[in-house]
Amino acid sequence: MSELRLLVLPGDGIGPEVLAEAQAVLEQACHALGLAVRFQEDRIGGAAIDADGVPLREDTIETARQSDAVLLGAVGGPKWDHLPKATRPEAGLLGLRKALGLFANLRPVKVFDALADRTPLKPEIVRGVDLLIVRELTGGLYFGEPSFVARDAGARHAVDTLPYTEHEISRVVRLACELAQARRGKLTSVDKANVLNTSQLWREIATEVASHYPGITLEHALVDSCAMRLISRPRDFDVLVMENLFGDILSDEAAVLAGSLGMLPSASLHGEPPTRPGTVARRFGLYEPVHGSAPDIAGKGIANPIGAILSVAMLLRWTLDRADVAQAVEDAVAAVLDEGARTADLAGPGERALSTQQFGELVRQALADRLVRLVPQQR
Ligand code: IPM
Ligand code: MN
Repeated sequence: MSELRLLVLPGDGIGPEVLAEAQAVLEQACHALGLAVRFQEDRIGGAAIDADGVPLREDTIETARQSDAVLLGAVGGPKWDHLPKATRPEAGLLGLRKALGLFANLRPVKVFDALADRTPLKPEIVRGVDLLIVRELTGGLYFGEPSFVARDAGARHAVDTLPYTEHEISRVVRLACELAQARRGKLTSVDKANVLNTSQLWREIATEVASHYPGITLEHALVDSCAMRLISRPRDFDVLVMENLFGDILSDEAAVLAGSLGMLPSASLHGEPPTRPGTVARRFGLYEPVHGSAPDIAGKGIANPIGAILSVAMLLRWTLDRADVAQAVEDAVAAVLDEGARTADLAGPGERALSTQQFGELVRQALADRLVRLVPQQR
């Protein structure tokens, strides 16, 4: 591949602001690698509802299929909150994940040393945390049928359904095992097996799948007590794997460890798991920060671009198979934080807060040297 075909979907709220910084980082990295980037920009979420009447157009899905990767900002906002489920901005993102078969959502949580005192938790609890949440992304309550609200003799009732097949569970657990093998070898499978049938099946299959991976230590954890351990003893965890809604909830909780929801990146992947983790070349992926559209600060230029920039690092690692360049981006972010640079969400009392753009610019400056060292021929 001499060219990276990238679909950019800025979406709503702070999405466009943080993506602009992330996109510039990606351009800089690709330039150093001698790789041309063909950006194609399109609408999703509320922006698409306003312009196209739907949160996601068919031809946008088709463009994504023709691309090597998708970079997405965020969707949603109060303007569209009154809409029914099927036509809300969120339906655009969910529809895209489903249409592209992106069943595995990787949400790494790594605490930067410089931010260990930025959480409401004690620094000694969060320092050194390095965990990976693998969230199942195309099944469970988000997509189960039947799902409806109805009125029966004047009283309303609503139904959502939580289905999981053996295939859906085993493929995501396999990937989690592969990832754990390349890390510290510990896998926590999260469920609610004391109550839910799907969780009992999940637990059974996780045990079977993990037994084929020598070197993996598997533990099962109930989601409620796991939520507690995640903030009381977060260093206990290496890789966690869980169904869609549990993963949605626990990943926002885990963001507290990192100092702000603005810190976390994600990669949504499809296809069979890699035989050698981290070494699969040019795998398609959708990359997006974990945070939402943050309508309260949208348009002010003060959003934290780190989650989006680290999502670009994940793109470099997973789609472009350049773990070294991904690491350089992560190191550049760490260096900028070490020097004391903070966005508003991270700034303590009396500390100056940088704008989204200023922070992005500092990261690119810190990255420039590192890229020259990695790819010397660019001089
Ligand atoms: C996330 C978001 C989405 C989700 C919303 C926007 C549909 O919260 O990516 O975590 O629930 O998956
Ligand atoms: Mn979420």
